[in-house]
Amino acid sequence: MSGRLTNKVVIVTGGGSGIGEAISKKFAREGAAVVVVGLESDPVREVVDEILAEGGRAIGYLGDISAQEVAEACVKAAVQEFGKLDILVNNAGVFPATAELDQYPVDAFEYMIKNNIYSVFMMSRAALPELQKTKGNIVSAGSEAGQMGSPMITPYGGTKAWVMTFSKGLAVEQAKHGVRVNCVGPGPIDTAWTHKETGPMNQKMEKNTVAGVPLGRRGTPEEVANVYLFLASEEASYVTGATYFVDGGVTISKSAAGDEVPSHLKQEPTGSLNLQHSKEGNTKVREEAAASMS
Ligand SMILES: NC(=O)c1ccc[n+]([C@@H]2O[C@H](COP(=O)([O-])OP(=O)(O)OC[C@H]3O[C@@H](n4cnc5c(N)ncnc54)[C@H](O)[C@@H]3O)[C@@H](O)[C@H]2O)c1
Repeated sequence: MSGRLTNKVVIVTGGGSGIGEAISKKFAREGAAVVVVGLESDPVREVVDEILAEGGRAIGYLGDISAQEVAEACVKAAVQEFGKLDILVNNAGVFPATAELDQYPVDAFEYMIKNNIYSVFMMSRAALPELQKTKGNIVSAGSEAGQMGSPMITPYGGTKAWVMTFSKGLAVEQAKHGVRVNCVGPGPIDTAWTHKETGPMNQKMEKNTVAGVPLGRRGTPEEVANVYLFLASEEASYVTGATYFVDGGVTISKSAAGDEVPSHLKQEPTGSLNLQHSKEGNTKVREEAAASMS
């Protein structure tokens, strides 16, 4: 299917890697003009070039959107380039550490407050005047960890609970302007974050994380992008204030049910997007995004 976002203008934060790459490419394939936003160290230029090579429309925007002036400039750049803004996808986020709370690094906590909470606040605030003009919508990244709470990453889960609760209130507040606000709540997705080699989980945590998924595997970035697409499209015109979990059943699970799934049912679907940057995401405190903390 294509054309579900024809003539729509979209900002995808954290659009250079992981789930954000899939959202950017999925939305471009469906006809949207996409502003791919990321830090200088993210493969934003590559994603833009790959979208253009497929015949899509996209520009990149590099900057730390947790800063008010950068968020406002980002919205301005989208409107200057494409004339309006219809959809904001608040996908940018960080997952820098795992530890029980008495050992949890304070700088990692501050880094999450900045990149998981300030970024959503600043971008939503900056985008609303434009979204009110177009009767547009916002879709933000929650998490199963924000619903359930998860050991070893309790501060991360707390930041995601903030995003989901913020979105419910905003949905009610903005309904009178014709603006919808929703969240997607991924479970463990096959990006840099959920592999011990590239993310902060150790072997035991990685194993338990996947074993706790009733469907027995990680989700793919494209499977998550499919749900972002639905919520952002006109097909979801009666959906607001919702969180759609894309978690293989984690939020309804009470056991290591995934261990019982036979291996042939654990194969990830190959999908149709040409994804190149799934594992190039942000798994450490990065200097450029930490700069404004001190
Ligand atoms: N991967 C998972 O298992 C999982 C599970 C639940 C929720 N999520 C959520 O999905 C989103 C994407 O996760 P991912 O696994 O694709 O991670 P990722 O690291 O591949 O992508 C996140 C991107 O956001 C960018 N970013 C972070 N802070 C930024 C800022 N202030 N300004 C500009 N760019 C910024 C990062 O540099 C990175 O490119 C996150 O919000 C995350 O909380 C992921």
